[in-house]
This record gives sequence, structure tokens and C-alpha cells, in this order.
Amino acid sequence: MNPAALKELPAAPRHIAVVMDGNGRWAKRRYLPRVAGHKQGLEAVRALIRGAMKHGVQCLTIFAFSSENWQRPPDEVSFLMDLFLRALREEVQKLHGNGIRFSAVGDVSVLSEETQNLILDAEALTRSNHQFRLNVAVNYGGRWDVEQAVNRAQLSGDLQTFPNYLAFADQPDPDLFIRTGGERRISNFMLWQLAYTELYFTDTLWPDFSESELSEALQWYASRERRFGKTGDQMREYVTLVATS
Ligand code: IPE
Ligand code: IPE
Ligand code: MG
Repeated sequence: MNPAALKELPAAPRHIAVVMDGNGRWAKRRYLPRVAGHKQGLEAVRALIRGAMKHGVQCLTIFAFSSENWQRPPDEVSFLMDLFLRALREEVQKLHGNGIRFSAVGDVSVLSEETQNLILDAEALTRSNHQFRLNVAVNYGGRWDVEQAVNRAQLSGDLQTFPNYLAFADQPDPDLFIRTGGERRISNFMLWQLAYTELYFTDTLWPDFSESELSEALQWYASRERRFGKTGDQMREYVTLVATS
């Protein structure tokens, strides 16, 4: 990374990617059905967006439903799809009012027609908002993303250009990845884009992830030294160079 690019690296992450895990266990601990955890998880999403905006983050990508989550019991899948549909119906105006640009990321072609239409409407309505970007990954998988990008590049006749066709090509790679729920894995999230992302794991279950938990993650992020393949000394030299130029 050259000094000019480093200069553009702010203390707060520009883009945070979140695997919101642990809803089912949250519910189970309360002797509730798993879906009660998903419902409560939506509250945590609201707090996350608020907190991220407050801290000067520019983009947030949340993993709502993976390409592998179709394998869950049909009732749970239906509930999750319905929750997403209802959130689109009820929250998009609020997002728009707050200057948030909404995008759905993933293979949405298999979702219900109503959901697809609401997604298109929400994306069109919020397209010119520049305050903040919210990407909701639904029927998303990192491998799907690479495959679809390669296919589209092949059709264009220039395979080399495939990164331009990835789902997040117009956004910075995540600086910070957060996974709640105690597992230390990526679970087919943004495989290409996470190449140099700082990975933060917490045992907190997603519905309990509060604004103060986000602050903790951001504090941890601020303490990391990102090196992008260089040595620590090289990075510190750049910092000095940038500070004095
Ligand atoms: C994450 O919580 C939400 C989705 C995958 C949709 P889980 O439902 O995976 O919760 P746990 O991991 O079973 O506790
Ligand atoms: C990842 O969580 C997907 C989402 C949060 C939407 P999972 O609960 O599906 O991941 P695994 O199965 O534990 O790896
Ligand atoms: Mg899980």
C-alpha cells in the first residue's frame, strides 16, 4: 500500500461485515422456539446500524441468510423469509429517512416475487443516499459470488475482469469482520473481500449484541496494526511519512 492510500485509512473502519450468529441458542436458553431468537435479532440489527453510523462507519454488510441456510427445517426457513419480507415492508422508509442506501446482496432470483419487488423498490428509493450503505446478504455465499462473477466475466469475453463483477465491487473491502455466537469461522461469507480484514469474534449471542459491544469491537480494531503483507517497520515508516507530508 502506498502512503497516499494509507492516508485514506481512517481510524474507524469504513466497512464492517457481520455474521449475526447465535439467534437459535439465544432462544433455546430461554426455552423459546428458535425463531424467537431471529425476531429478537432484528432489534440488534437496529442497534448495530445506529451504532455504526454514530462511529463514522460508511458501509455495513450483514449476513441474514446464507446459501446453505435452505437446509434448515422448512418452518424456520419460512419464518426467516417472512421476517425479511416484513422488515422490507416496515423499515425501508426509516432507512431512507436516515440517508441510508440499501442493497440486497446474493442470489435473490429464488426469493418470492413480492420480496424481489420490495428489494427493487428499496434499492431504487435509496439509490441516491450517501450517508451510509447497508448491504443485506440474503441467499448469499462467498463461493456463489466468485462463481457468478467468473461466469459474467466469461460472457463479457475477458475473464481477467472478474473482480469487477463481484457483489461488492463498488465498495471498499471490509476493514472489520465481526462474528457473534462463539464460532471462529467464516461460514462462506465474503471469501474474496475478507482477504485483509481484521477478524473479531465474540461469544455474545447475536440478540445480545448491543451498542457497547460494538464499541468494544471498534476499540479492538483501533488497536490492530494492519500490514497488508509488509513489515511493521515499513508500515510505521509510512505513517511517519504521511504525518509529516
Ligand atoms: C444466525 O443464528 C441467524 C441465521 C443463520 C439466519 P442461528 O440461527 O445460526 O443461531 P444458532 O447458531 O443456531 O444459535
Ligand atoms: C452463518 O451462520 C450464516 C448467517 C449468520 C446468516 P450459520 O449458523 O449458518 O453458520 P454455521 O452453520 O454455524 O457455520
Ligand atoms: Mg448459527
